[in-house]
Amino acid sequence: MADFISRLATRLAYGASQLPRVAWYVGQGMVMRQLSEMAGRRAGRSTRPRASTDAPVPDRRRLYADMAMLFRQDLANVEDGIYPMPVDHDGSLPRLLHRSRLFFEDLPNIHRRRENGHHQEVLNETTRGKRPAYYLQNFHFQSGGWMTQESAQRYDTQVEVLLNGTANAIRRQALRPIHEVFAGRDPRRLRLLDVGCGTGRFLDFFKQAWPRIPALGIDMSEAYIAEARRHLKRWCWIKFIIANGECIPLKDQSQDAVTSIFMFHELPPKVRRVVFRELARVLTRGGRLVLVDSLQRGDEPDYDGMLELFPQSYHEPYYVSYLSEDFRAMATACGMTHVRDANAFVSKVMVFDKP
Ligand SMILES: C[S@@+](CC[C@H](N)C(=O)[O-])C[C@H]1O[C@@H](n2cnc3c(N)ncnc32)[C@H](O)[C@@H]1O
Repeated sequence: MADFISRLATRLAYGASQLPRVAWYVGQGMVMRQLSEMAGRRAGRSTRPRASTDAPVPDRRRLYADMAMLFRQDLANVEDGIYPMPVDHDGSLPRLLHRSRLFFEDLPNIHRRRENGHHQEVLNETTRGKRPAYYLQNFHFQSGGWMTQESAQRYDTQVEVLLNGTANAIRRQALRPIHEVFAGRDPRRLRLLDVGCGTGRFLDFFKQAWPRIPALGIDMSEAYIAEARRHLKRWCWIKFIIANGECIPLKDQSQDAVTSIFMFHELPPKVRRVVFRELARVLTRGGRLVLVDSLQRGDEPDYDGMLELFPQSYHEPYYVSYLSEDFRAMATACGMTHVRDANAFVSKVMVFDKP
């Protein structure tokens, strides 16, 4: 009986935290689409070709069913003791509203860039030469690319709206494969590295599960690292380095697990290989690499059309090549073995070991 009550309480608490979140971000997505249509009508007929595909696109029912499956998996992870009841740390209501205001204020700029095909505004006199050219782009047509504080403040809302409030639950799916290799070991002797850590959302969940394991976040964006530091100041044993994933400033075999979330689809194919090799290099023997990123073509055939539409509506210059990237071959070339892939709504979790 006590067990039943405790499970029920867990489920109620989980629903009470996740359902309003989903409603909040789905609602903003609806408003965003309305505003975008109104802006389109005001501007007259768009010269931009309409996004199109012959491949299947999931309808709303299917999307919501798959979102529900992701949240059931997230809850199962909590019930299995993989991680505690997650706290999304979205901030107070005024802070949430502030972030939404920033998000909506930027929509006209995104619309303008999309209509005009402008995606190189980040590459200017101030930034040129400071980062690789592939990095200095307005990914998703967002203002500031990865280079400004304003972009870093808007990012989490943008991603959650894009993913209907599932982004954090998707990130948490990386914790199960980490648990498989960390459980039962002395936390003081373990190290985790997150490459392309962005605003630090995954590291927050990692710390909720493993508060005593030292964690390191690397990202090429000073602004995003600053936001991550702010977001994660509640945790100790957490460090950040502003660095390029192509040249990680760490010793060979110094990390027990390495993660990288939503980054690989934004790297050109050649850079993807260099970064993967770096992740493999810094892993210890017996270490685990977990990548979380978009589904690829064929992973869920009913979604193939949606994957084709995405880079037609957003500036995602390397996404088409990502869709057919052979990560197993990449892993083999670096002496790593592919353990498994698991789909998580519109994303997938790829697990590799270094024998
Ligand atoms: C789509 S965001 C993902 C951020 C975060 N992992 C998340 O879960 O939202 C991609 C991140 O990768 C970083 N990034 C892209 N290329 C990089 C590179 N070569 N080296 C380091 N970071 C890079 C960007 O600065 C950005 O923060």
